[in-house]
Amino acid sequence: GAPIEVDLAPIAEGQDIKVFWRGKPIYIMNRTKKQVEEARSVAVDSLKDPASDESRVKAGHDQWLVVIGICTHLGCIPIAYEGNYDGFFCPCHGSQYDSSGRIRQGPAPANLPIPPYTFVSDTKIQIG
Ligand code: FES
Repeated sequence: GAPIEVDLAPIAEGQDIKVFWRGKPIYIMNRTKKQVEEARSVAVDSLKDPASDESRVKAGHDQWLVVIGICTHLGCIPIAYEGNYDGFFCPCHGSQYDSSGRIRQGPAPANLPIPPYTFVSDTKIQIG
């Protein structure tokens, strides 16, 4: 599949959009300061799939989370802004991901993957 460009300007703080890339749902979330703080205050070593929030976003664009919206358990599509961690909730078997897309509770073994993407301007990304 070809790369796609996504305009971030319409996504208000505290909102997300879902786009499709190579047939996969991609969540693009404009995180609130609270969501970023929550994601960064967790002890990374305590996580099931340890990764810092900084490693999962682009430097200088810290409020933007871009993840592949496919649960790493059995492939359902998690719901954004649901669950106990200000992130994503998978309705199939109850996996909960935090505001960095990291698995925090439930049967999923791994974090939501990050697709390849780059910022082409402050308000536009290219995925793929
Ligand atoms: Fe998401 Fe099982 S597919 S928890």
